[in-house]
This record gives sequence, structure tokens and C-alpha cells, in this order.
Amino acid sequence: MREHDYEDYSDFEDSFDEEPARRVRQVYEGPAPDRSGRLTEGERVRLARLRDDAYTETELPDGADRWTTWDSAEPGPHPTPDWVVTDLGAVDTELGVLKTGKEADVHLLRRGLPGTDGVLLAAKRYRSDEHKLFHRDAGYLEGRRMRRSREMRAMANRSSFGRNLIAEQWAVAEFAALSRLWTIGAPVPYPVQRNGTELLLEFLGDADGAAAPRLAQLRPEPDELADLWAQATAALELLAVQGVAHGDLSAYNLLVHEGHLMVIDLPQVVDLVANPGGHEFLTRDVRNLAGWFHARGLPEHVTAADDLVEALTFAAGLG
Ligand SMILES: Nc1ncnc2c1ncn2[C@@H]1O[C@H](COP(=O)(O)OP(=O)(O)O)[C@@H](O)[C@H]1O
Ligand SMILES: [Mg+2]
Repeated sequence: MREHDYEDYSDFEDSFDEEPARRVRQVYEGPAPDRSGRLTEGERVRLARLRDDAYTETELPDGADRWTTWDSAEPGPHPTPDWVVTDLGAVDTELGVLKTGKEADVHLLRRGLPGTDGVLLAAKRYRSDEHKLFHRDAGYLEGRRMRRSREMRAMANRSSFGRNLIAEQWAVAEFAALSRLWTIGAPVPYPVQRNGTELLLEFLGDADGAAAPRLAQLRPEPDELADLWAQATAALELLAVQGVAHGDLSAYNLLVHEGHLMVIDLPQVVDLVANPGGHEFLTRDVRNLAGWFHARGLPEHVTAADDLVEALTFAAGLG
């Protein structure tokens, strides 16, 4: 994660806040800059070159919305799957909105070399406007190590700078959780890259861009229901062994893709050891899920939530 960013600058930022006068003096001490008002020959050449570059920058091919952002993003975990487009000549094309939400919007994107089919990706973009995220960031960030710093105070103050940092923080957290879980073989979409507040994820859906249905939309037959429950508990166990709970698990954050139950929406993943409310989050996740399966017809002795919480707690090494 990016903890080192905070560590590197926290001392500097603190002194900046506490003693602005001293800071300013330090920054501007030294010889006054030479302001002759005339461009040197070197500077003239540099500016001319910049201007030429601006004119000659290759135009985006028709229909494309941007050049690939692969080269400027944090890449997903290794080994990078074959289907990931890493070519720097690739372009991204927006195909529409999959879902808008309070905290993030999910768009459908195509990435590929001009003239090829490319691959479909889900672009999850955290919003930094308005009041989203705020109900979520109370309990969840507890137990995450972060230094007191100007950034922390900006987030607490909800300045626009702070709101953007909060949004990026959630993107960073979700990308890290997905990377870690994908690496251990958990059923999550491959996280292709993160760039600021935007995550690009493996698109779970068909080649025409129809997204896999949420579990909540399905009315599975008894056999399929039992199979999905088995997949759900197996996924929960994988998470528990990693020492985490989803933190917002429901039939809306599980997609069923080609018979596979896939876990999504993981920014608030909860550390079962470090977070004092961890056990409560786990219990709530399990009860939500068990409740849904029970309401769909799975007998209560199968979905027994409290037994499952106990088993998962044990799997997390906290039994
Ligand atoms: N990787 C993906 N593939 C296909 N659809 C996705 C993917 N990720 C998200 N979606 C769609 O976007 C919706 C919202 O995504 P989610 O991560 O749950 O964000 P939110 O925080 O808005 O609930 C999902 O219910 C699903 O329909
Ligand atoms: Mg969701």
C-alpha cells in the first residue's frame, strides 16, 4: 500500500502546519531568483520544442476516448494474465455505464489496439464529490495504520482535497484487497490496474457487454442454490484464512458468472485481527448471506449462521 507516502512526509507536513512562518522562511531563504525578464536561448528552444510536440502528438483514432493508461497506473498482481492488454499503442473506449452509485460509478470500457476487438473491462471510479463514503469510513478504517498528517486532517475536514484523498484511499484499499485475494485464488475479478480513483477490473459478463447478474437477481433451483451456498462458504473461508471479512457482504456484492460465484466490492475489507469490530462485521456478513439463502429455500440447518461464524473465526486463527 502507500503507507510510506504518509510516513515520508508526515513530519514535514506536521511542522508545516504548526509553524507556518518558520517553514516559509526556510523555503524562500537563499539568493533571489534571476528575473531578467528575457528568455535565454536554451529556454526559447525548449519552449519551441514543447509547442511542436503539442502539434505533432498523434491524434486519437476515431471513437477512442483516451490512450491506454497502463503505463501510468499501478499494475495488478503477477503473473499478469495473457488477456491483459499491455500494449502502449492501445486505446480505451467508453461503452457505457454499468451502474452508478453513491460512492462509485462502474463503467464498461474496451481496451485494445486500434482495429482489434480488444478486451472488455469494468472501470470502477470512486467519486470525490458530495457526501458519499462518509457513512462507510467511520468503523472500517479503524485498525489501518496511518500517520497523523496534513492528509489525515484534510480528510477529517472534508475539504475537496481531503475528499479526493478519501476517494483515492478507498480505491487503493479495494485494489489491494482484490490483488491479495486474487493471488490466493479467491473468486474475485482480476484487478488490472489502479490509477488515482479509478480501478480497471476484469469484466464479468459476456462478449456483448452484458454484466453477470447479481446473486440478488437470481431465483436458483434447489440444486443450484445448494451449489452457490457451497461456493459462498468456500469463498468466506478463503477470506477468513487471510484474516479478513468482506465487510459489506450481501447478494448484491456477489455476481454469478458462468456458474461461478464471484465476490466484488471490497474497499471496506475488514482485518479480523486489527479491527476491534472485526468479529461484528464478520457476523453481519454471514447473517446477511445466510438470510438470503434461507429466504430462497435453503433449510436453516444448512445455513446455520452462528456455526459458520464460529468456523470462520477458527479459520482466521482466532477460535
Ligand atoms: N468486474 C465487474 N464485472 C462486471 N460488472 C461489475 C464488475 N464490478 C462491478 N460490476 C457491476 O457494478 C455494480 C456495482 O459495483 P460494486 O463494486 O458493487 O460498487 P458499489 O460500491 O457501487 O456497490 C455491481 O453490482 C455490478 O453490477
Ligand atoms: Mg456493491
